[in-house]
Amino acid sequence: MVKAAVLGASGGIGQPLSLLLKTSPLVDELALYDVVNTPGVAADLSHISSVAKISGYLPGDDGLEKALTGTDIVVIPAGIPRKPGMSRDDLFKINAGIVRDLVKGIAKYSPKAFVLIISNPVNSTVPIAAEVLKGAGVFDPQRLFGVTTLDVVRAETFTQEFSGQKDPSAVTIPVVGGHSGETIVPLFSKATPAFQVPEDKYAALVNRVQFGGDEVVKAKDGAGSATLSMAFAGFRFAEKVIRAAKGQAGLIEPTYVYLPGVPGGDDIAKATGVDFFSTPVELGPNGVQKAINILDGVSDKEKQFLEVAVTGLKGNIEKGVEFVKNPEAK
Ligand code: 2OP
Repeated sequence: MVKAAVLGASGGIGQPLSLLLKTSPLVDELALYDVVNTPGVAADLSHISSVAKISGYLPGDDGLEKALTGTDIVVIPAGIPRKPGMSRDDLFKINAGIVRDLVKGIAKYSPKAFVLIISNPVNSTVPIAAEVLKGAGVFDPQRLFGVTTLDVVRAETFTQEFSGQKDPSAVTIPVVGGHSGETIVPLFSKATPAFQVPEDKYAALVNRVQFGGDEVVKAKDGAGSATLSMAFAGFRFAEKVIRAAKGQAGLIEPTYVYLPGVPGGDDIAKATGVDFFSTPVELGPNGVQKAINILDGVSDKEKQFLEVAVTGLKGNIEKGVEFVKNPEAK
């Protein structure tokens, strides 16, 4: 039996993500939580003839407790999205508090659940979640994930003309670092099967993966950021976490984790100088089974991108940790 919960289920990402989870044969029970509209979204999805039993909760009447109790995997897309001209960091003020409060609920009602954070800025909201869970004495780093799959999905899609794959997802491209602009580092040199990016196209391609989210923000022209592709990415990652929990071996996907707390993470923390970092991880029954260090042998250009990424990440991580320790200062 797998119970999944979506916190922020009525929003732009939450609704399509809930739809995908509702149609997944891997989910037996699906609880939707949001500050508005969840009964309606749940009623709508409940007519779909799939396995998952669905319920929708609002904050009143112990809604968060009911949504989370007995939950195995919690996905959090809650928060506000970007408008044109905004960076993910501009969302910090509002989303930091939302994530902190939801994770307090997780610490209380489903402390053993896998927690997948989509709410931006992921580079800071994951450290916030870690601090809250630590404070409650229930932090299991192997079960806390920042979802960076959309960067991987974009890298697969945008390189299709070079990889030559009919199905762009047939290629594996590690994307490491964080989930925001220059902290996102696609490692094309480590793609399998290998392919070449022409020198004169390389910089633009890296930039497109790093700032792909901005294309969507601009095209939506004030109506928000990526929701459908993010829901797809969140679902792809959630499905892998569930499959691994059910015993499937060999599932690997990059995700933003607390390195000192996961097997294999120390090496990467030493190599990068940061504690939170997105790296390919092998998933297992208890979440992160092993963080894989693929930083050895990257190209010189990739090394330069990594240096810039780490500098940005340090500030983002510090901001998240500081927010939990000293919320009034923000
Ligand atoms: C993006 O990458 C919304 O952060 C999301 O577009």
